[in-house]
Amino acid sequence: MNGVQNAPDTRIRAHKTPAIATQIALRRPRGSDAIPIRELVAETGVLDLNSTYAYLLLATDFAETSIVAEVAGDLHGFITGYQPPSRPDVLFVWQVAVAPRAQRGGLAAAMLDSLVAHVRSQRGHAPLTVEATVAPGNASSRAFFGAFARRHGVPLREHPHFTAAQLDPDQAHEDEPLLRIGPLA
Ligand SMILES: CC(C)(COP(=O)(O)OP(=O)(O)OC[C@H]1O[C@@H](n2cnc3c(N)ncnc32)[C@H](O)[C@@H]1OP(=O)(O)O)[C@@H](O)C(=O)NCCC(=O)NCCS
Repeated sequence: MNGVQNAPDTRIRAHKTPAIATQIALRRPRGSDAIPIRELVAETGVLDLNSTYAYLLLATDFAETSIVAEVAGDLHGFITGYQPPSRPDVLFVWQVAVAPRAQRGGLAAAMLDSLVAHVRSQRGHAPLTVEATVAPGNASSRAFFGAFARRHGVPLREHPHFTAAQLDPDQAHEDEPLLRIGPLA
């Protein structure tokens, strides 16, 4: 992921919206992406909206484990992630979003495949497990991670993890069980 990738994969080239298919670029995030990332999170209406400062940290200090998708200079999607310090064989995917106008065209799948390939290459192609927490009610996210596991032929296992009580004193937030996908080797 050195700068902008000018040769997006076949899934992106086959995006249902031709204007998106011809202009999409995947690249590592930078500081100027923090505000558009936050705006995109707000646009989805389902993700927890964090501070611009948090997204700025992700877009700078965690840029090697995050990715953005641009169409003609506009942010259309992103993935933020990190490698837990005590478990460098894990890529924890924190948030994934694709603009509603660009969904169901393979953009999130292409971002995750590209990000995983980048992290694996940085680690000398050692095995890597992808983790994410997904609320039981987030069907599109579950479908997205399930499709990733099938595409790579690896198991997806679910474990109890963050609880509603930990996330909100009024328990208005759903539990966030952990999905573990892999190892990819
Ligand atoms: C989840 C999300 C990122 C998927 O982005 P996307 O670009 O539309 O996903 P893709 O087109 O790459 O689809 C990848 C796979 O996920 C599945 N999928 C994606 N959205 C789906 C939906 N709404 N319903 C069912 N399956 C869905 C597709 O079946 C596809 O699998 P396939 O290629 O085997 O058919 C997008 O719907 C989104 O931004 N949602 C709001 C934010 C969110 O919930 N983020 C995830 C939690 S962190």
